[in-house]
Amino acid sequence: MRAVVISSFFFLVLFSYAVAYDPLDPTGNITIKWDIMSWTPDGYVATLTMNNFQMYRHIMSPGWTLGWTWAKKEVIWSMVGAQTTEQGDCSKFKGNIPHCCKKNPIVVDMLPGVPYNQQYTNCCKGGVLASWGQDPAAAVSAFQLSIGQAGTSNKTVKLPKNFTLLGPGPGYTCGPAKIVPPTNFLSPDRRRKTQALMTWNVTCTYSQFLARKHPSCCVSFSSFYNETITPCPSCACGCENKNKCVKSDSKLLSVVGINTPRKDNSPLLQCTHHMCPVRVHWHVKVNYKDYWRVKVAITNFNYRVNHTMWTLVVQHPNLNNVTQVFSFDYKPLVPYESVNDTGMFYGTKFYNDLLMEAGPFGNVQSEVLLQKDKNTFTFRQGWAFPRKVYFNGEECMLPPPDTYPFLPNSAHAKLVGFSALACSAILLLLALW
Ligand SMILES: *[C@@H]1O[C@H](CO)[C@@H](O)[C@H](O)[C@H]1NC(C)=O
Ligand SMILES: *[C@@H]1O[C@H](CO)[C@@H](O)[C@H](O)[C@H]1NC(C)=O
Ligand SMILES: *[C@@H]1O[C@H](CO)[C@@H](O)[C@H](O)[C@H]1NC(C)=O
Ligand SMILES: *[C@@H]1O[C@H](CO)[C@@H](O)[C@H](O)[C@H]1NC(C)=O
Ligand SMILES: *[C@@H]1O[C@H](CO)[C@@H](O)[C@H](O)[C@H]1NC(C)=O
Ligand SMILES: *[C@@H]1O[C@H](CO)[C@@H](O)[C@H](O)[C@H]1NC(C)=O
Ligand SMILES: *[C@@H]1O[C@H](CO)[C@@H](O)[C@H](O)[C@H]1NC(C)=O
Ligand SMILES: *[C@@H]1O[C@H](CO)[C@@H](O)[C@H](O)[C@H]1NC(C)=O
Repeated sequence: MRAVVISSFFFLVLFSYAVAYDPLDPTGNITIKWDIMSWTPDGYVATLTMNNFQMYRHIMSPGWTLGWTWAKKEVIWSMVGAQTTEQGDCSKFKGNIPHCCKKNPIVVDMLPGVPYNQQYTNCCKGGVLASWGQDPAAAVSAFQLSIGQAGTSNKTVKLPKNFTLLGPGPGYTCGPAKIVPPTNFLSPDRRRKTQALMTWNVTCTYSQFLARKHPSCCVSFSSFYNETITPCPSCACGCENKNKCVKSDSKLLSVVGINTPRKDNSPLLQCTHHMCPVRVHWHVKVNYKDYWRVKVAITNFNYRVNHTMWTLVVQHPNLNNVTQVFSFDYKPLVPYESVNDTGMFYGTKFYNDLLMEAGPFGNVQSEVLLQKDKNTFTFRQGWAFPRKVYFNGEECMLPPPDTYPFLPNSAHAKLVGFSALACSAILLLLALW
């Protein structure tokens, strides 16, 4: 029994670390589809389509980087709508020189505004992909490649291996390419159907544990019924770089170019006790008879990033009864049909879909009106605060439960203390058994 309990505990820990699984978006992934459109004398022409099926995690600037390893001695003769970062050694070729001769090509998207003859449908967005929940039409990227020294039929072609995806940083793990039923294409007038000669898919999933050592956002709370503000936990996002932060009143901030993003996307943070690039604040603002109102504010503490297409995901049992969301867009997320406690907020186009760099304009805010369900609604025991918060698909660190603002004269503190004690006692008993 003891062995079972302990091993299943370790299994759970290992499972949650090793396999990228997000309980709020269980099927979220990025799928890369290769469609072979035609065979050529020495290879084939393929269209690569990358779909971001993640509900609320987008790929922000400077965009995706896709890599793989060729199974044979393939070369890329030409590319439309994307390019490899290096050509590699093409010294064996005379006359026609390939676009890339590397065994493991690294591909990036083109920037907007490239000449028409280098464009392809859904290309040239600087590698930026919207999340599926926010804008499915902008959650796709595509380009075309012409491959040489490759198989020239579905019997001789070899699938590339070892796919890697940066989005733009680490965190994604890609599975092997799998042959799937060939894609069907409809002609523009929808009267003729054609199909790919062969199709394979690669699926990549995200894990925050692979991406970073610390969270990249934190949450703070306040309420109308208690004047205490519960701050973000100290060093929630790691304090290693505390000596590199900039005070909000520093003269440095007036230096020209201080806001210019770096190639490696390294942040320049405003000094705070939490050292997070982003803070989400949840304020329980008003209590009405049948409704209650929350104010949500997101603050950017990074001087080197403007967040475009940002998303905020919140899990709270009352989100099944959102009556009105002011100044943000809102969409319920229902990953499991039986529970409707999670929703996604994002900026309204041209109004607050840009969360500006740290400073006087580096915040966005909204209010949410929720209808009370008389059976479950309470201000006690921190019920009015969210259970989980994600910013741009990264889970934010919440304050410890015993620091939540609580109702005057409530038994909350004792209860929390007691249940924590009871829980640890039960765990201890199980472990010793
Ligand atoms: C990838 O996401 C799509 C859309 O959510 C889903 O249908 C598909 O099953 C997922 N694939 C994998 C391998 O999880
Ligand atoms: C392959 O990927 C495409 C999206 O790029 C998706 O629509 C399709 O369902 C995938 N096929 C399989 C079998 O997963
Ligand atoms: C290859 O193509 C033939 C017909 O041209 C088809 O019968 C066969 O199923 C295909 N094999 C694969 C692996 O797609
Ligand atoms: C793929 O990656 C694995 C681990 O990184 C490595 O052991 C293997 O040799 C690579 N395969 C190819 C064909 O490069
Ligand atoms: C953010 O956007 C503003 C206005 O478009 C621009 O002036 C500023 O340089 C941008 N900051 C960064 C960090 O890119
Ligand atoms: C989930 O809750 C929202 C209100 O927040 C409601 O509009 C939506 O219909 C609910 N969806 C389901 C499947 O219950
Ligand atoms: C919202 O709350 C009202 C009042 O409690 C309730 O009748 C209704 O069923 C709730 N709606 C949902 C989607 O849970
Ligand atoms: C407000 O909440 C804090 C816990 O965050 C608690 O210590 C304090 O006693 C509460 N204030 C009142 C007036 O109950």
